[in-house]
Amino acid sequence: MPLTDPKSMFDRAYKEGYAVGAFNVNNMEIIQGIMQAGAEEKAPLILQVSAGARKYAGQNYIVKLMEAALLETDLPVVLHLDHGPDFELCKSCIDGGFTSVMIDGSHLPFEENIAVTKKVVEYAHQRGVWVEAELGRIEGVEDDVKAEKTIYTDPDQAKEFVERTGCDSLAIAIGTSHGAYKFKGDAKLDFPRLEKITSIMPGYPLVLHGSSSVPQEFVEMCNKYGGQVGGAKGVPEDLLRRAGTLGVCKINIDTDIRLAMTACIRRHFAENPADFDPRAYLKPAREAVKNMVRHKIRNVLGCSGKID
Ligand code: G3H
Ligand code: 13P
Ligand code: ZN
Repeated sequence: MPLTDPKSMFDRAYKEGYAVGAFNVNNMEIIQGIMQAGAEEKAPLILQVSAGARKYAGQNYIVKLMEAALLETDLPVVLHLDHGPDFELCKSCIDGGFTSVMIDGSHLPFEENIAVTKKVVEYAHQRGVWVEAELGRIEGVEDDVKAEKTIYTDPDQAKEFVERTGCDSLAIAIGTSHGAYKFKGDAKLDFPRLEKITSIMPGYPLVLHGSSSVPQEFVEMCNKYGGQVGGAKGVPEDLLRRAGTLGVCKINIDTDIRLAMTACIRRHFAENPADFDPRAYLKPAREAVKNMVRHKIRNVLGCSGKID
């Protein structure tokens, strides 16, 4: 099956109150782990590539790895650019075969965010490509787009932003943040704000970034085998499940993949210090990605079996 855009995935997710997982990829093993999980759960999938991942792997490698993955599956799969920093990078991904792009102008003043988003929307829509934008700021660091402090999304501005840009989905800030250290105190999300946004934009698909749960088993495994990721904390899974019932159709997960792989590889080296064949440690790492993604699909996102 060829790559698809997210429209029918999100229509169904919105109606039935669940979310589709958007998993960050940057190499073959991660792509394989996610694809295997999707196949076992019969779940729709979004595989997304950040500007940094694109630089690391190369756009052609990513696109060709995805083509290879699609030869072996009937699942609906979206290839999405995550946090596109400018028009040029979005254009390159659209021209290169991505079916969805994010233009992240969230660090810009409102009018400038509107202008760049509109420009990407015009280019993308002529070519049948979906556009996600962001309003509000989500704390944390990606390679090319940085936010020091979270600014929660204003619901009225969100409506105006969507009407004026024509973007297809919107990433909102309600308390999540990127990376492995999300909350200093108690973990909480601003559900009243989310409900307000959903009520003034009914039927419109929302996106939640920074949605890793930072499973403590991986944190402990990393630390046990020489890592230093003390105090890492993510979004509790029940909060993510609730967001999926309130108009959030896409939930972004990267950090949990990194932790699952790293924990496994650390353990492998600790237990097998003489190993130097990459297959010996990448195989269990890929398996750990698969198991973690399966768990998300089934127990957190609620999208098992949701293929038409
Ligand atoms: O939202 C950010 C993603 O986790 C991508 O991170 O820019 O380090 O690839 P990256
Ligand atoms: P995490 O760092 O919580 O995995 O968030 C990933 C993300 O939002 C990618 O855009
Ligand atoms: Zn993000």
